[in-house]
Amino acid sequence: MASPALPAIDRILFTEEQVSARIREVAEEISGKYRGRDLKLIAVLKGSVFFLTELARAIEIPLKIDFLAISSFRSAPGMVRIAKDLDDPIQDEDVLLVEDIVDTGFTTRFLLQTLAGREPRSLGICTLLDRTVRRIVQVPVEFRCFEIPDRFVIGCGLDYRQLYRNLRYIAVMNPDKG
Ligand code: IMP
Ligand code: MG
Repeated sequence: MASPALPAIDRILFTEEQVSARIREVAEEISGKYRGRDLKLIAVLKGSVFFLTELARAIEIPLKIDFLAISSFRSAPGMVRIAKDLDDPIQDEDVLLVEDIVDTGFTTRFLLQTLAGREPRSLGICTLLDRTVRRIVQVPVEFRCFEIPDRFVIGCGLDYRQLYRNLRYIAVMNPDKG
């Protein structure tokens, strides 16, 4: 594991080894649930990409992947729009939405509603991080790697102003550097 020498880091919440081990456990749960079926993982750019690739490689059933990108409006929290849509339809497919973090739940709820309108066979949520203490709208998170405290975190895809996504561990951001 890289040492937390970056001034942006307050402390490491989950090491690279802990993250990988937990992703493998969740991948096993997912393989068990969808065994005998094909699965489509949908990841939200850019934060979920790191989680998606590690998760996908640990899942042992055939799967497809697709991506979408969203943009949110600073002036209107909870308002999200699709900036890049999926390449393919999801009708009659088993779909798992792969998220980096579910925080207030607004983004996830928007995505769920949008995807549900396209009539997938099933639609679930899998998130690397879940911060339930900040939840405003309820969303059914089926697979979660870690529950986290109410602190801003970076690494494993999560950014601060687009930086630090590439950290191999999940760290609490140093508030003085934020
Ligand atoms: P929500 O709509 O409030 O659930 O938040 C969704 C988005 O906020 C996530 O997809 C992240 O991009 C961002 N976000 C929330 N908390 C954090 C954090 O601690 N670090 C980095 N990004 C975060
Ligand atoms: Mg972000």
